[in-house]
Amino acid sequence: MYKPIFYEIGLKEFMKICVVGAGYVGLTTAAALAVFGHEVQCVDTDQVKIDDLLQGKIPIYEPGLENLIIEYSQKNRLYFSNKIVESIRDYSIILIAVGTPSQNDGSCNLSFMKQVVEMIVATINSYKIIITKSTVPPGTNEWIHRTFIEMGVKDDLFDIVSNPEFLREGRALWDIFHPNKLVFGTKTDRPLEVLKELYLNGSTPLIFTSLTGAELIKYASNFFLATKISFANEMARICDAFQVDYADIKKGLGTDPRIGPDFLNAGLGFGGSCLPKDLHSLKHSALTHNIETKLLDAVMEINDSQIELYLQRLNNVLPASEGKQITVWGVTFKPGTDDLRSSPAITLIQQSIQRGYTVHTFDPMVKLDSCDVTSHSDQYESVNNSDALIIATEWEQFIHCDWSEVQGRMKGSIVLDARNCLDGEMLRRQGLLYLGVGIR
Ligand code: UDX
Repeated sequence: MYKPIFYEIGLKEFMKICVVGAGYVGLTTAAALAVFGHEVQCVDTDQVKIDDLLQGKIPIYEPGLENLIIEYSQKNRLYFSNKIVESIRDYSIILIAVGTPSQNDGSCNLSFMKQVVEMIVATINSYKIIITKSTVPPGTNEWIHRTFIEMGVKDDLFDIVSNPEFLREGRALWDIFHPNKLVFGTKTDRPLEVLKELYLNGSTPLIFTSLTGAELIKYASNFFLATKISFANEMARICDAFQVDYADIKKGLGTDPRIGPDFLNAGLGFGGSCLPKDLHSLKHSALTHNIETKLLDAVMEINDSQIELYLQRLNNVLPASEGKQITVWGVTFKPGTDDLRSSPAITLIQQSIQRGYTVHTFDPMVKLDSCDVTSHSDQYESVNNSDALIIATEWEQFIHCDWSEVQGRMKGSIVLDARNCLDGEMLRRQGLLYLGVGIR
């Protein structure tokens, strides 16, 4: 028989939570839950990763996370293990944060998710709340619920909760400690009291919806953010044609509370592990229900054409056929991370090489391991004898660098600002040829 949840998991004191998956989302969430006062066991099949974590070494770069993991491991609130089956069996709250990588057709590979579901079904012997944190296509949590029932698990033994994350890489701890909303999709009211206590949310708006509703809030959010970026990029092109600085337009737009100032930066476009993947996945899901995705397609098309646009700008002043040397500053998909996944900078570098440019790079976090590029560990050295410098990621140290030093080392004078982040006037005074899209 179903018993009140708080007898099982110690509500009002602390909860014992098993986080499955020690990736970016799993580790950040596990550390935060430990800070909130819960006892957290984070499990992963990767023995090397778990061994590293037990020694306080974390496999990703996320400011502040390593210190938090060390502190809360020492306080015995955060544990790491590769004993997935045992942990799943022994814990009453299981938070699934495994990867759901993109497949060639745009859909998500749910095989890790399925493995975890099978393990829970095979071992469940007491009431559990199973929380899906991974981004999964609409209908996945309903499928998980159905699988439990079809495999003979009584519905008073479990609740499935869809609780998507909205963390930004590089700011994940800030986001998890200052969420602008918490979204919970459920099938019954039974887990609600536990969910309200899970994140010590204070005044954060709590949004309760269906399982599929929560999944779609996550996709809608990333679709909307991507739309803002592609809108900014199209507007910057129009500004360019009328010789208007897009920065002025951005300012004018941002003061309207219905629009807001965020996610309006024009440049090389969006990348990373989430936005491109989630847009393809949403399109795939829509197509399986015969829904046309005209806006989604346009957002992706604009994004995909940004690199070509910047390379044309470069080619106009420095034709590639001459075998010229360029330096690309920034290789990660955005500043504050070491993540190269779907990085527009990487595509820009690859396409520059294909066109015949000799490419040098510098990034504060990543040295590229490729024989096709010369990757430097010194920012200024990387521009020695270059004909052009391209800013592909807006790291602070690029914005505030010593431009006379740069100019003195370069052979040419072209600076292509592919993130609209530099002070063009100042660069021109320095004798540099400052170029971009939507830049006067
Ligand atoms: C995103 C979402 O913001 C987050 O809520 C979700 O959980 C995961 O995906 P993240 O991938 O870490 O987070 O990066 P984000 O800061 O959103 O930037 C995504 C991409 O958009 C980056 O390549 C960034 O350079 C680009 N971007 C962002 C722009 O081109 N212009 C902008 O104005 C903002």
